Amino acid sequence: MCTIIHPLILCSLLFLYLQTSFSTDTLKPHQSFVDGFTLISSNQRFEFGFFSLGNGSSGDLYLGIWYHDLPLTVVWVANRNNPIRDSFGEVSLKENGVLILYARSSDAVWTTDNTTFTSGSSPVLQLLDSGNLVIRDDGRNKTVFWESFDFLTDTLLPNMKLGWKLDVGSHSHRYIRSWKSSEDPSEGDYSFSLDPPEAPQLVVRSGSRKLFRWGPYDGTSFSGGTTLTSSPLFQTLFVSSSIELYFKYELLDESILSRFVISPTGLLQYFTWKVNSSKEWNLLVTFNSDPCDIYAKCGPYGSCYSLSSCRCLSGFTPDSPRDWGLFSYSGGCKRKHEVNCGHGDGFVKYNALKFPDNPVVWENYTNHDCEAKCLKNCSCMAYANADVYGNGSRCVAWIGDLLDLKNFPNGGEQIYIRMAHAELKSIADDKRKHSTVKIVSVVTAIGVLLLSAGAIWYISWIIRNRRKDQIGRSSNAAQQSGSFQYVEDNQDSGFQLPLYDLETILLACNSFSDRNKIGQGGFGSVYKGELSNGQEIAVKRLVEKSMQGVEELKNEIILIAKLQHRNLVKLLGCCIEGEETMLVYEYLPNKSLNNFIYDKPTRKQLTWRKRYHIIKGIARGLLYLHQDSRLRIIHRDLKTSNILLDSEWNPKISDFGIARIFGTDQIQEMTKRIIGTYGYMSPEYAMNGHYSVKSDVYSFGVIVLEIISGQKNWAFHHSDHDLNLLGHAWMLWNRRQPLEILDPTVVEPSYGNQVIRCIHVALLCVQQYPEDRPKMSTVYAMLSYENMELPEPKEPGFCRESYPKKLDTSASDSSTINEVTMTTMAGR
Ligand SMILES: *[C@@H]1O[C@H](CO)[C@@H](O)[C@H](O)[C@H]1NC(C)=O
Ligand SMILES: *[C@@H]1O[C@H](CO)[C@@H](O)[C@H](O)[C@H]1NC(C)=O
Ligand SMILES: *[C@@H]1O[C@H](CO)[C@@H](O)[C@H](O)[C@H]1NC(C)=O
Ligand SMILES: *[C@@H]1O[C@H](CO)[C@@H](O)[C@H](O)[C@H]1NC(C)=O
Ligand SMILES: *[C@@H]1O[C@H](CO)[C@@H](O)[C@H](O)[C@H]1NC(C)=O
Ligand SMILES: *[C@@H]1O[C@H](CO)[C@@H](O)[C@H](O)[C@H]1NC(C)=O
Ligand SMILES: *[C@@H]1O[C@H](CO)[C@@H](O)[C@H](O)[C@H]1NC(C)=O
Repeated sequence: MCTIIHPLILCSLLFLYLQTSFSTDTLKPHQSFVDGFTLISSNQRFEFGFFSLGNGSSGDLYLGIWYHDLPLTVVWVANRNNPIRDSFGEVSLKENGVLILYARSSDAVWTTDNTTFTSGSSPVLQLLDSGNLVIRDDGRNKTVFWESFDFLTDTLLPNMKLGWKLDVGSHSHRYIRSWKSSEDPSEGDYSFSLDPPEAPQLVVRSGSRKLFRWGPYDGTSFSGGTTLTSSPLFQTLFVSSSIELYFKYELLDESILSRFVISPTGLLQYFTWKVNSSKEWNLLVTFNSDPCDIYAKCGPYGSCYSLSSCRCLSGFTPDSPRDWGLFSYSGGCKRKHEVNCGHGDGFVKYNALKFPDNPVVWENYTNHDCEAKCLKNCSCMAYANADVYGNGSRCVAWIGDLLDLKNFPNGGEQIYIRMAHAELKSIADDKRKHSTVKIVSVVTAIGVLLLSAGAIWYISWIIRNRRKDQIGRSSNAAQQSGSFQYVEDNQDSGFQLPLYDLETILLACNSFSDRNKIGQGGFGSVYKGELSNGQEIAVKRLVEKSMQGVEELKNEIILIAKLQHRNLVKLLGCCIEGEETMLVYEYLPNKSLNNFIYDKPTRKQLTWRKRYHIIKGIARGLLYLHQDSRLRIIHRDLKTSNILLDSEWNPKISDFGIARIFGTDQIQEMTKRIIGTYGYMSPEYAMNGHYSVKSDVYSFGVIVLEIISGQKNWAFHHSDHDLNLLGHAWMLWNRRQPLEILDPTVVEPSYGNQVIRCIHVALLCVQQYPEDRPKMSTVYAMLSYENMELPEPKEPGFCRESYPKKLDTSASDSSTINEVTMTTMAGR
């Protein structure tokens, strides 16, 4: 029968309806299929067909593409705004190369474009291995006439292009837009796009309102979008030519599926799935999680510093000091001296900033011309030189007020801002004074030190006396009043931080008697206490005075108290009275990691499984601090005594955010005050005061090696050489005997590969140059994916340095001195 009428059509139709799924990835002209049939890409990764969401019976029917053999994860929807409501759909490829979706009523619900296909060729629909659905010529000429990669929904797959086609005629813009909800793929509020084509930036919007913005491109990344640059899992690319302008990413490890999604709630997220081993999608990064990236948070000329606080650029002052006092920054800043077009205006260079919004690109202007052109145009407020198209440096200018700035302690851009003559003059004067100030400040610093030592003695004398009186008469009153007030938090009314008063703390901690003292660090001593309601607390009494005002300090502490993660110690409240600043933490009965890992008897309890659990927990906590929390925090004093263990051996990082509380000067990428501990400090930080998340990564690497070996890095001794623990590990690694470093009390031979992997990751973390060290997200991925290829480590920084011998011996009997945190001034 087949051979009599229309052999091709009938045979293929029969074939289609007999199979439950085409074991094929192509559809030929005149073929069609209905719900229940699908196309599967030849690598078995993607599937194209009908699907419905929610509960099947009432569900609307959509045509789309999802991952084959995974829980339904839709990556593309054809008819996202026109669901089929009568639960019958049929999709068919016409002779002229048009794909049409019919509902029962036989109206075309959706169709591909009708303009491009040239007659005379034979069209075919194919689902490619990349997840791209194409209609192409089946003849020798494989020209693609239509592809789903040109019509983005909410997902960016590897190699999808986000951006513009600039061919003559079609000026098409490809961007992703969120679903309305997880059960409704129709267009939601949020979008992520690359625009405008004249000066491209990456923007997350709600409707037409900008929420987050990164850009323009500076030659290596979109300005401010450090998390949007390449990682060991993917490589991002920005391509511009006369016909195309786009952002895309490529996978570096083909066994990991990845997708980049704008969620129905506006989060821009990157998910991974390891083939044959994952059980669910793993959220690797949320790109728009830094509150400092919130669009125009600090208003004109305001710059967002270290996560959430705003400051005016130097030469500017809050437009409304009252609003700024109330933490409402959006009014921004105004100039101290108004510019006066053409009459003595000049430019001042600012470093480490994110480029402001609304850039204008001036073609054909080089460095010097750029400044001259900007100076001439009275509304030009700043200029910079940047490789905005990735094909050579351009003059970029900003017309009008500078909006959406952010400070980057490490990196960032140079930008030249127009300043009035009076401002330029005062800067020049300051420079002249600078050298004298240096000497004066050293003298002053010594004076202040002496004075404050006196003051501390005096205050503690007063407190001791006051307490003596009060214990007699008012200890009852203190207990009854509950003894704490609440600080109002302007930004998030749901959160309240207990503000304990001094009496409560003194009572809880026995007036800080030595018996209650449980630790000592660079920032101060830690005391155990018990509140009147029986709750056990640990109180950290900060020795240094914060450089911030009391309100700002409280605000800072509130922000930090909001960070909650199972691998971070919980901050319960604070006490700020007079000279005293104290932080109140949950008390953890198990001690810190240093109490376990260095001594043979206690080390024995730490099986490899426990050690591995601890390593991963620390990595998770640190990843949260660096990247996933609303604040982005660099710990700066990570060491084993700052890792506390709960009863189930879960590690909890303590002391995080303290560097922030001190309000240390983060304008520069370096600090003059070096906070850290010998043996854990990265070379660039210890020697130059440069710090970044990579300094924490270094400390993490040291901790991992200490956990594996049970040895102290700085106190390591070996009869054959004078290397420290890092140097020893590096030497063994090069001799291909990495396991020799493993603590001999660990007796679980089957974990050998895992141990080697941890040593490998640790060696990558302690490499000398920060740019070689992986970020915590990568470290965590390296620890989690056993098949991920790791690069070869280079030589660690600080291979030989050990603690000065003199101190080493004198301190051997007192564990507190061993752990003293260094607070020094870096020479500069
Ligand atoms: C789907 O069905 C289950 C039980 O069959 C029910 O519990 C659930 O609420 C339903 N969900 C929706 C969105 O209707
Ligand atoms: C087909 O082309 C015509 C003429 O250009 C246009 O009006 C129509 O909207 C197109 N149809 C589709 C589905 O794009
Ligand atoms: C394929 O055909 C199209 C249209 O006919 C033509 O523009 C293109 O140059 C051809 N490509 C090749 C490789 O022959
Ligand atoms: C660089 O890219 C831009 C934007 O695509 C284009 O206009 C310009 O001609 C290119 N310049 C060079 C030198 O290729
Ligand atoms: C996953 O498992 C299948 C079947 O066991 C195998 O054919 C395939 O190569 C595996 N893929 C990877 C990336 O390991
Ligand atoms: C830049 O210079 C080139 C060559 O000199 C010229 O063709 C082009 O029109 C100039 N572009 C602008 C915007 O002036
Ligand atoms: C300043 O430059 C901008 C952008 O090139 C232009 O639109 C504006 O007209 C210029 N203003 C003056 C006064 O030249």
